[in-house]
Amino acid sequence: MVAYLLAYAVAVRNQDGGARGAHAKASEAANARRGSCDFEDLLSDLPQVFVTRRLPGDALARLSERAQLTVWEGTGAPEPSDLLNGAQDADGLLCLLTDRVDAAFLERCPRLRVISSCSVGVDHIDLVAATARGIPIGHTPGVLAQTTADFSFALLLAAARHVVAADRFVREGGWTWGHRWDPEGFLGVDVYGATLGVVGLGEVGRALATRARGFGMRVLGWSRRRREIEGVERVEFDALIERSDFVTLHVALTPETRGLIDRATVLRMRSGAVLVNASRGGIVDEAAVAASLRSGHLAAAGFDVFRDEPIAPDNPLLAAPNIVLTPHIGSASVSTRARMADLAVENLLAGLDGRPLPHCANGS
Ligand code: GLV
Repeated sequence: MVAYLLAYAVAVRNQDGGARGAHAKASEAANARRGSCDFEDLLSDLPQVFVTRRLPGDALARLSERAQLTVWEGTGAPEPSDLLNGAQDADGLLCLLTDRVDAAFLERCPRLRVISSCSVGVDHIDLVAATARGIPIGHTPGVLAQTTADFSFALLLAAARHVVAADRFVREGGWTWGHRWDPEGFLGVDVYGATLGVVGLGEVGRALATRARGFGMRVLGWSRRRREIEGVERVEFDALIERSDFVTLHVALTPETRGLIDRATVLRMRSGAVLVNASRGGIVDEAAVAASLRSGHLAAAGFDVFRDEPIAPDNPLLAAPNIVLTPHIGSASVSTRARMADLAVENLLAGLDGRPLPHCANGS
């Protein structure tokens, strides 16, 4: 793979300036403010941090004032070998949910003191192995729930009312004189007055429930932790599955939730129900959902996450009817991604300083 690492420290040293980016300049300015007389010494005193992707906003510029950064600049996510190359001599790692951090990786990165993921989910990280090595894992709860709930609701509406298929129909020339208003064209499922089942009543699930009430839906909710939420009728999992016209998933991927929506559960859903998944692909039996869409047992679905990402070419959902597919973009708004980057940097800096992380996924 043709890729290269841009070492910020090297760029700072390169006084000719060709490769000097904003972050490098910020780092240099910070060093100047500290009144450094020996620039090389100062650089070598700073902790080394590997960042696996450029991030929106100015968070990395701030981090570069306190650490010697190496930012992965290859196309897309680093391969596992690139990740290891970047992190094996680093004190800190700022990664994304695409970067797998397992016990073998940690074993080969003996200097790592903190790992900060720019994501709320941490199923890509072996928390047990990290904890055993005393490495705190940062994540970004609290800043992406509303944005992800907006997107989940967009998927729900788009799936229920065939928005994407109708767009395609118009663009592809299907909207002809004879079909200018078809009484049977693109008939969807009503959202208003329907029953929504929210699986997982954490931040995103609760934010989604608020939106659903605004749309005149009756809201049922299930989560393993007992949570009483105004306007949400708490029910057992089976009751939720059997009573809901729409089911939307908002649980983290853990050993307990992996395969939670299995074939038997899909078959217990109401005939004509709609399923939305913007949490993690591993929660759902994708083949069972595809079969139920084909048979018409499920009217529609909206999926933003998949068991394998990017979606495998032979994923049965690709060939299923009435499903809206998006590439894991639930939190993708300009301001939310910048806030996630801010939080990821705060977590990382705390770990490098030996302070408790503001948001620690493996803390007590
Ligand atoms: C997105 O899926 C996240 O975990 O932040």
